[in-house]
Amino acid sequence: MNKTRIGVLGMGNMGMSHAKRILKGNVPHMELAAVCDIDPARLAACDEALPGVPQFKNGEEMIASGLCDSILIAVPHYDHEKYTVEAFEAGLHVYCEKPGAVYTLQGLHMIEAAKKSGKVFCVGFQQRTNPTFRKIREMVRSGELGHIKKVIWIVTNWYRPQAYHDSSSWRSTWKLEGGGTIVNQNPHNIDLFQWKGMFFRHTCFWMFLKSR
Ligand SMILES: NC(=O)c1ccc[n+]([C@@H]2O[C@H](COP(=O)([O-])OP(=O)(O)OC[C@H]3O[C@@H](n4cnc5c(N)ncnc54)[C@H](O)[C@@H]3O)[C@@H](O)[C@H]2O)c1
Repeated sequence: MNKTRIGVLGMGNMGMSHAKRILKGNVPHMELAAVCDIDPARLAACDEALPGVPQFKNGEEMIASGLCDSILIAVPHYDHEKYTVEAFEAGLHVYCEKPGAVYTLQGLHMIEAAKKSGKVFCVGFQQRTNPTFRKIREMVRSGELGHIKKVIWIVTNWYRPQAYHDSSSWRSTWKLEGGGTIVNQNPHNIDLFQWKGMFFRHTCFWMFLKSR
């Protein structure tokens, strides 16, 4: 299998964490081809953490560079649509961090661009790989638990202190994050709820809450 050369857009918490794992070789068939951030301090941090990896100051240049077959988008939410569509139009595969989009029309544009390009599109709902949730799904699907009539899920292990909300200028703001807990903290839980074969017949959430 050929390697995919991936460029990481947004070198904050998630971008850096993904990039380090890829550089370490944790993802088979994937090579860290480039990184990009508009903040020079974040790129300076990449000099030390990701030595020798080409750097870009804007996403358009990285997408057009010819260095990448795919792009990993880890910037604040409102820009997910713009870079996803641009990357598909340039013939790249896209892994976009959750929540995907902020409002319905953005999500529809992203899906349309993916379909047109024929490239792979993935939104970062990595909790589907968590063995606990995989096991629950297996038990529900097998019928072992019988007919599920009601589900109550209280998430107790993802407590977010004020320091988390203060950790980036966009986080927890309506203007830049685009929503409250359902858009930023709970999309994973909602995704798991509506994951086909999980509780799909019993609950139906729609991820994009606003419409234009
Ligand atoms: N999958 C998960 O479990 C998980 C966990 C945390 C965050 N996230 C998601 O990851 C994304 C990023 O979150 P984060 O916590 O890393 O945020 P962050 O603030 O730590 O990092 C964002 C980075 O993007 C850069 N940036 C902003 N606009 C840019 C642009 N136009 N071009 C290039 N760089 C730009 C910023 O300078 C910053 O370095 C969000 O969508 C968030 O919801 C996912």
